[in-house]
Amino acid sequence: MNIRRLLVTGGAGFIGSNFIRYELEQYPDLHIVNFDKLTYAGNLDNLLGIDEHRYTFIRGDIADADALANAMEGCDAAVNFAADTHVDRSILGATEFISTNVTGVYNLLEQTRTKGLARLLLVSTDEVYGSIEKGSFRETDPVSPGNPYSASKASGELIALAHHRTYGTPVIITRGSNTYGPYQYPEKVLPLFVTNAIDNQPLPLYKGGEHNVRDWLFVRDHCSGIDCALRRGTPGEIYNIAGGNERENIVLTRKILALLGKSEDLIRLVPDRPGHDRRYSIDASKLKKLGWAPQMDWDEGMALTVKWYQENEWWWRKVKSGEFLEYYKRQYGKRFADETS
Ligand code: NAD
Ligand code: DAU
Repeated sequence: MNIRRLLVTGGAGFIGSNFIRYELEQYPDLHIVNFDKLTYAGNLDNLLGIDEHRYTFIRGDIADADALANAMEGCDAAVNFAADTHVDRSILGATEFISTNVTGVYNLLEQTRTKGLARLLLVSTDEVYGSIEKGSFRETDPVSPGNPYSASKASGELIALAHHRTYGTPVIITRGSNTYGPYQYPEKVLPLFVTNAIDNQPLPLYKGGEHNVRDWLFVRDHCSGIDCALRRGTPGEIYNIAGGNERENIVLTRKILALLGKSEDLIRLVPDRPGHDRRYSIDASKLKKLGWAPQMDWDEGMALTVKWYQENEWWWRKVKSGEFLEYYKRQYGKRFADETS
């Protein structure tokens, strides 16, 4: 599929900014329009140094249909990363999650239909399936989200699938695993633990969840998976994107500490996340049939990622100030007071 002007929504966040770099590198004639609200998680530092001749930034909200329509003008396709993405924040309050992850997605679908875009790819998550004890979810399994974040993502997906069936809107959905790599906002477990450990601060591991399992997908592999689904996928279809690296949270935590040469005494077992999903696992054979495969080995990806945070303190020290500190206190203040080890 030939795309000349691609709208990327939420391109100033973690995966979106990595995706913009990936696309500009892979397709020399491509122009990208990045439409991003710049919430607390949006950061233009993530895009420093990219080729400004092939890139346009527009600040805006996907829940604002008119602003979105203007940004979409002249684009052949769109990829949506814009979302409220942190489970713990959704437990504290989910109003913004509904606005962006549901209303925003509906606006994207409507604009895709009325403007006649060739493709809309919605970046979704393995969390929509909920937890699984044995085996792995396939795309045909039902959704069963367990927290406000994943419920809002599943809601957006259901509206998209109905839109495809009703109007023939050319929408494709990807469901990715836990993603890691450079430029991830340090509220997520991996960059939070790496940056806390660099500063010899405690690592708040959820007690009861220390043996919970996540499948780790390197960010470049997630980007190549999205690209493959966008260009080779079939409208109306869903594609899982798995890393193939299932690890217990305690294993991830120990790995981070070992890579940094820090003591396991930094681990603090704090009260668990309510409704904490035990294990995520997805089967990506459907996308693999289109020619995609993850390239990054977990040990190598972890070493590279930890080194990136060690070498880029300028990036995360700015982020771990202001709003972040208020959130950190709200999320962990009482937890540290109630810690159980
Ligand atoms: P992020 O939180 O790092 O970035 C989200 C971006 O969206 C930010 O730049 C923010 O400013 C922007 N944004 C938020 N609300 C917006 C709105 N209303 N209008 C326009 N822009 C808005 O997110 P991420 O971790 O990069 O995740 C990107 C996408 O991938 C999300 O849709 C998420 O659900 C999905 N996903 C993430 C992971 C993961 O492990 N991080 C895994 C699977 C799927
Ligand atoms: O699976 C894909 C999803 O991965 C994405 O859709 C989400 O946007 C992304 O945030 C992520 O969700 P998780 O809830 O799995 O990620 P998080 O980094 O918040 O937590 C990972 C695991 O670590 C989880 O079992 C909870 C645990 N954890 C997390 C934090 C923040 C802790 O033990 N302590 C913590 O402080």
